[in-house]
Amino acid sequence: MCGIVALIGSREAAPQLLEGLRQLEYRGYDSAGIATVDGDGLHCLKAEGKLVNLTTRFEAQGAPGQCGIGHTRWATHGKPEERNAHPHLDGSGRLAVVQNGIIENYRGLREELQSQGVLFRSETDTEVIPHLLARELERRRAAGEQASAALLLAALQSVLPLLQGAYALAVVWAEVPGALVVARKAAPLLIGLGEGEFLCASDTPALAGFTRTILPMEDGEVAMLTPLGIELYDAAGQRVQRSPSLLSGTEHVADKRSFRHFMLKEIHEQPETAALWVARHLPEVVEGEATPLVALPLAAEVFEGVERIQILACGTSRHAAQVGAYLLEQLAGIPTSVFYASEFRYAPPPLSPHTLTIGVTQSGETADTLAALAMEQERRRLVADPAYRPRLLGITNRAESSLARMVDHIFDIGAGIEVGVAATKTFLGQLLAFYGLSLAFAERRVGQRQGGVSSGRSREELKALVAQLRQLPQQLEALVADHDQRCASLAHRFEGTQDVIFLGRGINYPIALEGALKLKEISYIHAEGYPAGEMKHGPIALLDAKVPVVSIAMPGAVFDKVLSNAQEAKARDAQLIGVAPECPDAELFDVLLPVPAVDELLSPLLTVIPMQLLSYHIAAHRGLDVDQPRNLAKSVTVE
Ligand code: F6R
Repeated sequence: MCGIVALIGSREAAPQLLEGLRQLEYRGYDSAGIATVDGDGLHCLKAEGKLVNLTTRFEAQGAPGQCGIGHTRWATHGKPEERNAHPHLDGSGRLAVVQNGIIENYRGLREELQSQGVLFRSETDTEVIPHLLARELERRRAAGEQASAALLLAALQSVLPLLQGAYALAVVWAEVPGALVVARKAAPLLIGLGEGEFLCASDTPALAGFTRTILPMEDGEVAMLTPLGIELYDAAGQRVQRSPSLLSGTEHVADKRSFRHFMLKEIHEQPETAALWVARHLPEVVEGEATPLVALPLAAEVFEGVERIQILACGTSRHAAQVGAYLLEQLAGIPTSVFYASEFRYAPPPLSPHTLTIGVTQSGETADTLAALAMEQERRRLVADPAYRPRLLGITNRAESSLARMVDHIFDIGAGIEVGVAATKTFLGQLLAFYGLSLAFAERRVGQRQGGVSSGRSREELKALVAQLRQLPQQLEALVADHDQRCASLAHRFEGTQDVIFLGRGINYPIALEGALKLKEISYIHAEGYPAGEMKHGPIALLDAKVPVVSIAMPGAVFDKVLSNAQEAKARDAQLIGVAPECPDAELFDVLLPVPAVDELLSPLLTVIPMQLLSYHIAAHRGLDVDQPRNLAKSVTVE
């Protein structure tokens, strides 16, 4: 949510800033702006709407200087209008700030500054920062301090304690065009080290084309960047020395190749995501040797003595968590609860002992998920009894994210960067992480009994599942190719559609939820996912010939039940789209999107494909901006 970049070096900054913003545009695309500084002063350009508008403005007007900052916005405070676009300037127009995050106490600060005669030009929370900095610089200069990079740094260090909330920010000042300062608190910021130049950004894609050597900033840190180097300080103002690290190979932004949208490309990348997962986590079985069923890069202490699991997540990640909970309970016999992170923060359940808390977030930056995890960590630290100690595991696609720096154990799903705002291959990666995790727990628990009953599956059952999982990459390959065609030719049927119902049961109920979410977010068609058995308790009143019903019916414990529920919908004239194997029972559906009849426990890995492709093609057929749907952002770093 919002992307920021800052550059200092020996070449013109604006083109590189715009390129950095292009890579970050998926984080927000309501408006964008840049500010550069040189001997002639500060040059600020802003434009409402997509980045292309700013680029056009730059081509017409230019923005000279070898030092600058840039921002692409997802509106939080203030409408997406040009006056609310960043950078925000002080009253003199010589100091500019870009910020990602939220300044929670901005109202009080704004009133205080207004009472001192400061005029505000925007409705944003950010604008208090340039005014506070200008006031501090003025105070220090009145006391005899000279304009310098050190003065700018000291002013920022004095102002930051006044700000409550989360921020990653960058500041340029026309008085010192050879330096810029940056700071972060509870929002990501990374510095990229180039040759004689430094690029700072809120996310790795902006850095990937620039350098692979990065220095992720820690919470509370402030840095001063000049063409000669970086000075890094902790929240107490102490100088910090830290070695840079290397961006991992997957942290690059691939182009769309021949695909029309990133989302479609990312859907087509899922067989590869699965193949990598199989290669990494399913060891070859060697006859006569005791090979583990799954090999996970997790310490034994993640598994030892766990009696209960709680999972915190938002949106699509929460749907993956719901499939995960089903697996952890049904495969491994561990009681598992899933929470909306935003709800858990303010109403956590009573503490339970020997509990593993899992945070699931593809971006690793979702504010609600991070805050819920931090709260859980804190309340458990206060308990003396070691049975309640915090045990936190993060499942993410961004091994360098804030989540990874916060929890002790990370499961990196390694799906590669996902640019489409609608999560697809990262969802599959999260599902696979849960298959790995529940198989690993189940394997450790084979033969254990709780309360006189077996707590999980036999080793033979687990081996059979693993053997089927090895087939997944090929199954996905065929399924994606086939359903791409089928869903493309189905899309026109949804031209006038206003509501769609998705039904699933058991382990496929979260896939129905995911199907509805995908459709809503990119096609703006109202959609709801329900456990199929719930239809008759209310939602069935919505059904008529104008409301298509997508029913996921996979052979297993609830197959017949789901088919009966689909019959009930058909009796109300609903157009029925079945996600089911080709079989006589499936003749009930008006349209069948066929899926191989795998073990029901593995079926979500396949049933999700028609969900993604149906949504994609309906939205693309409507001519919508599939990769950057309205009002959304890839990484939601505000509460
Ligand atoms: C939907 C989608 C969102 C995210 C949610 C959490 O396609 O992408 O619902 O799943 O905002 O994001 P992460 O996984 O980054 O915590």
